[in-house]
Amino acid sequence: MTILVTGGAGFIGSNFIHYMMEKYPDYKIVCIDKLTYAGNLRNLETVLDKKNFRFIKGDICDRELVYRIFEEEKPDVVINFAAESHVDRSIESPDIFLKTNILGTQVLLDASRKYNVKRFHQVSTDEVYGDLPLDRSDLKFTESSPLRPSSPYSASKASADLLVLAYHRTYGVPVTISRCSNNYGPYQFPEKLIPLMIINALNDRPLPVYGDGRNVRDWIHVKDHCEAIDIIIHRGKEGEIYNIGGENERANIDVVRMILRELGKPESLIRFVKDRPGHDRRYALDISRMKKEFGWSPKISFEEGLKSTIKWYLENRSWWEEIINGEYMNYYERMYGERLKE
Ligand code: NAD
Ligand code: DAU
Repeated sequence: MTILVTGGAGFIGSNFIHYMMEKYPDYKIVCIDKLTYAGNLRNLETVLDKKNFRFIKGDICDRELVYRIFEEEKPDVVINFAAESHVDRSIESPDIFLKTNILGTQVLLDASRKYNVKRFHQVSTDEVYGDLPLDRSDLKFTESSPLRPSSPYSASKASADLLVLAYHRTYGVPVTISRCSNNYGPYQFPEKLIPLMIINALNDRPLPVYGDGRNVRDWIHVKDHCEAIDIIIHRGKEGEIYNIGGENERANIDVVRMILRELGKPESLIRFVKDRPGHDRRYALDISRMKKEFGWSPKISFEEGLKSTIKWYLENRSWWEEIINGEYMNYYERMYGERLKE
């Protein structure tokens, strides 16, 4: 079996490649990644020279390149992780989000149709459903909840989902979609909440919490997400959508406090800063389809997963120091400079 993984040098894609290469040593994995600011070949350094792995630096919007890869590799399965993934950046500049997340997906769908792949899997997000109020813990999103995205990022992901479903209905492309909640774990780029807070705390820098800090996210360890995608590509039904969640809702401020406690750092580092525009209040997923159809549920508890993630960042300082000493600081200054002065 040959699997084409797009965006495999990013956070979840690289974790997925490690997971699959360990579990299925006889599969061939081909990865295409543009190596944007979020892509990092260091995430893949232990597999780069493996015989059953091929890395291609390239853009999923580059139709000629994508068709050439399909022609050469004849993938059985395509898994599309490639995306611009950060909400704050989508608020700053939406264009590239629409280009990569929608038009890039279209190129991959066209190629999947032309070369008759057996499965095209789209890695989507719970953010396509919009948000839920804090005072209705009874409400959760199911796979048939309406799409009400709030940010340019989530609108681009929702658009891609609709396109994927349209290619299934119109052209019979064998697709599946998974919509996952907030991931955390090794190799996560430090613009995202958990690694940003770990790294700032380690450097005794202020921890910028948006708004009142009561926004709720449902956290899942990236390994549990990878396991669920593995199940869906092998056993999922064509044309179906699957919610993947951690059943682990936490207010941001509680997550930040847990990180500080674990690192032995004082809560005085916390700064409440100007809120993210359009900030979604709460995400919560109903994952009964994954449970009923496949007996899957997340295995890694948040306490255990957060501890091991903090340990990973402590043991892999050079990985994140290289990032924060580069272009990242310009982004940090743009995003947080004024906010932290207020
Ligand atoms: P990430 O930003 O860490 O990685 C994205 C990867 O895609 C990078 O390696 C980047 O170089 C690559 N890429 C970007 N544009 C590309 C292009 N035009 N062509 C080829 N490669 C390109 O993102 P992530 O957090 O690993 O997310 C991966 C996928 O999972 C995304 O589709 C995201 O929407 C989805 N998702 C993420 C989460 C989360 O919590 N991080 C949750 C649910 C779904
Ligand atoms: O829900 C899945 C989504 O989770 C994915 O689709 C996205 O790709 C991924 O980036 C993530 O989106 P969020 O916006 O939820 O993640 P982020 O880490 O940016 O923020 C998590 C919460 O923490 C959110 O409520 C905003 C808040 N936050 C974030 C940052 C970076 C802060 O309070 N301060 C910060 O500095």
